[in-house]
Amino acid sequence: MNVLVIGSGGREHAIVDALSRSARVGKIFCAPGNAGIARQAECVPIGDTEVERLRDFAVAHAVDLTVVGPESALAAGVVDAFKAAGLRIFGPTKAAARIESSKEFAKELMAKYGIPTAGFRAFTDYAEAKAYVAARPLPAVLKYDGLAAGKGVVIAETMEEADAALRDMLLDDKFGAGKVVVEDFLTGPEFSLLCFVSGRKVWPMVLAQDHKRAYDGDEGPNTGGMGAYSPLPFVTAEDERYALERIMRPVAEAMAAEGVPFEGVLYGGLMKTPQGIKVIEFNARFGDPETEVVLPRLKSDIVDIFCAVADGGEASPEWHDFATLGIVLASKGYPGAYEKGHAIGGLDRVEGTVYHMGTRTEGDRVVTAGGRVLFVVGKGATLAEARERALADVARIECDNLFHRNDIGHWALDE
Ligand code: AMP
Ligand code: GLY
Repeated sequence: MNVLVIGSGGREHAIVDALSRSARVGKIFCAPGNAGIARQAECVPIGDTEVERLRDFAVAHAVDLTVVGPESALAAGVVDAFKAAGLRIFGPTKAAARIESSKEFAKELMAKYGIPTAGFRAFTDYAEAKAYVAARPLPAVLKYDGLAAGKGVVIAETMEEADAALRDMLLDDKFGAGKVVVEDFLTGPEFSLLCFVSGRKVWPMVLAQDHKRAYDGDEGPNTGGMGAYSPLPFVTAEDERYALERIMRPVAEAMAAEGVPFEGVLYGGLMKTPQGIKVIEFNARFGDPETEVVLPRLKSDIVDIFCAVADGGEASPEWHDFATLGIVLASKGYPGAYEKGHAIGGLDRVEGTVYHMGTRTEGDRVVTAGGRVLFVVGKGATLAEARERALADVARIECDNLFHRNDIGHWALDE
């Protein structure tokens, strides 16, 4: 089969890597890809939201299966366009992707179908929102409703902070005109449960945990994710069953019942609170960097699963027992302003796996080309061993403009 992967980050590199282990795959294309992906796939210079060019490429190159990585491609309607052209594609339609792109849609679906999540109210009016927040305990959880590149969530510790955020979101339309969802503040460890979903059929992946803050000790600004690992010792088998049977399956059922059946990866961002497991958010795609620690543990042929989802068939994914732990190497300054174009050395000395998140080739060198640059994955019989190997590989990489966290996995290893 010829397969096209859409996207250019570590997630897409991990998808390409999983595809390259499949006996069923012939040619792998990736649009637009990056310097690491280029070693395992033919990179095609088409952007992830150039829907018509992507579709025309798939037709011209006899692509049998397309796999969508980023939310931006879903929001641009790539799945809808491919389906309209009779092409097989793995991912949700734009309507189904609203489970991620619209907080209000997701919250109302959960309320209607009794899926456990933080209590909430949605506002369009600044004064009403402010009065509501002022009458409730702090911290206040304020979520701009729409895609704000992960920057639309504010946890305000003081009323002044809350007011400033509400002004940005509702008076100054900083992210465009929209709504604000005000939620109850929940506490507990967060984790991600990604599932392959085909309408009412749900096949869970192994659990993973991301680390959103930039620095050790979960300090510093929020990022797209600085590291991840799998499995999670603090989530019991019973917790996992609850998350699957009370959250993920009912959401798939609810989407189908609402006439927007979901196909693709449904990502549950969950929190283990003292009152039980609750939903923080859903994403309509593979998580990044969770995918880079989850897919290496997949024992089954990923093409069988992608095709089962896209064709409405059956699958039974199997997983390896070993642990994976991955560390992001990010450009100094990230998630704020950062430089690009710094040379990266030592990649050939790495013993484990390196997924490229933001790199490009310049002559015969690989250089930094994004905020998150590389993702170094260690494998081991235990998480401790996986972390040791990942850190050893991180030390082999030479670049004068990267930083990383040393405490990935601390929830499982150090507490
Ligand atoms: P989201 O974009 O919805 O995942 O929110 C980003 C981050 O904000 C989450 O990963 C949580 O750490 C935090 N967060 C979101 N909602 C809540 C909530 N209701 N209570 C506490 N923390 C939250
Ligand atoms: N790791 C968080 C996300 O993919 O949204």
